[in-house]
Amino acid sequence: MNISEQTDGKFGVVVTGFDAATAPEADIAAVKHAVYTHKIAVLKDQDLDVKAFLELGGRLGTPEAYYEPIYHHPESDRVFVSSNVEQDGRRIGVPKTGKFWHSDYQFMPRPFDITLIYPQVVPSRNRGTYFIDLCAAYESLSADLKAAVADTVATHSVRRYFKIRPDDVYRPISEVLDEVDQRTPPVSFPTAHKHRHTDETVLYISEGFTLSVTDREGREQPDLLRALLEHTGQLDTSFEHDNIHLQTFEKGDLLVWDNRSLVHRALHTASAEPAVSYRVTVYDEPDRAA
Ligand SMILES: [Fe+2]
Repeated sequence: MNISEQTDGKFGVVVTGFDAATAPEADIAAVKHAVYTHKIAVLKDQDLDVKAFLELGGRLGTPEAYYEPIYHHPESDRVFVSSNVEQDGRRIGVPKTGKFWHSDYQFMPRPFDITLIYPQVVPSRNRGTYFIDLCAAYESLSADLKAAVADTVATHSVRRYFKIRPDDVYRPISEVLDEVDQRTPPVSFPTAHKHRHTDETVLYISEGFTLSVTDREGREQPDLLRALLEHTGQLDTSFEHDNIHLQTFEKGDLLVWDNRSLVHRALHTASAEPAVSYRVTVYDEPDRAA
């Protein structure tokens, strides 16, 4: 196995010679270390079925089923399917997922630690995912903004980007939103907090899920939230901001990333080209013995 820094893009490593079926524990540990150090690892030349993909996730952490069943793969509720392709006349998974800045499960009390994406049907053009490193973004804040962020709390919810399900058609939108708020009430974390696995500080906000930033007296600070989003690059609709990394991929690539320090945004093709990818998300509890 060889791990080398990516030559295109702004961060990430490429892993060659990784065999998920036979990888010794040392290889798994090295991949995980690369994920936390370089944020993204692209495992090249992977050929895994659903079961083997899930098993790989299980070696990096504890896979968790997504809370909405419409995303589940028929073979396992712990494999999430993003797809615009129908199979045998029925839809599997959900199309056009994640076309907004977010991190996975940021709106839940326990966000995932690591995300694995395994593209199955790769479009010929405009394939890729945008990423922003929120640790680097925090470090590059001005002293004034760092001081302004200290002791604030950011609140997140899925309500703005909740995907209407087939059964929701003809339901009043207010009823759907009430259900969203009941099932997934907003969650709050310190806006800047220590990463669970590194010494870095994460500026944990996203354009998609962060509803507000509040100061220690509980007052909302919309201008501060906007300034922070602007600084991270999440308001740049040209995607040319210095912080934005475009991760491209080809068939056989399997992407593994640090979901606690990155926000990402899908780049969907403007045309209706087929695109399918499978996702496994895992919890990686920090070693409490240390
Ligand atoms: Fe996502």
